[in-house]
Amino acid sequence: MRRSNDCASRVASLLDQLGLGNGRTYDHLRELFPDRKIYVCERRVAAHPDCVPPSELLLLGDMRETLRDARNRLNDRVALTHLDPATGDVVAGKMLADELVPLVLPLLRLGGVLVSEPALAADGLNSLSLPAGVESGRYNLYRRVSHRSPP
Ligand SMILES: C[S@@+](CC[C@H](N)C(=O)[O-])C[C@H]1O[C@@H](n2cnc3c(N)ncnc32)[C@H](O)[C@@H]1O
Repeated sequence: MRRSNDCASRVASLLDQLGLGNGRTYDHLRELFPDRKIYVCERRVAAHPDCVPPSELLLLGDMRETLRDARNRLNDRVALTHLDPATGDVVAGKMLADELVPLVLPLLRLGGVLVSEPALAADGLNSLSLPAGVESGRYNLYRRVSHRSPP
């Protein structure tokens, strides 16, 4: 967890947390970036009430739908997305992450950064090096480098 936060800390600047979970990453992001709006996707909120975003920033429901609905509002505006939809099933998590990439990419502004636990491959995303101390493959950092979005 701390290492994921190290990855998030490397970039400053609308943020998007995909998977609230118990709210640790959200808590860390809001501490790092108190002036930024942090949108959070979550199917079912189970975090401590102190770690729940305000309702206008909570995209409640299946993120495959809520991210699609958020396009008009967020397209090309998000500086940092932290993608962590894991549910314990590695294969299912990777499949979900691959499904989410075409929805996440158009939201990221050019130069915006995506932090993801599963490795991703998509046109328009370049890999970035990890901060010192983060084990290779444990997390993955990408920068959006072109407006070419997947079909
Ligand atoms: C591993 S947890 C996130 C942990 C989080 N980084 C933290 O700091 O606690 C993954 C979360 O993603 C949510 N999730 C998984 N698939 C989802 C989907 N399709 N739509 C919305 N939320 C989803 C789960 O409900 C779960 O709370």
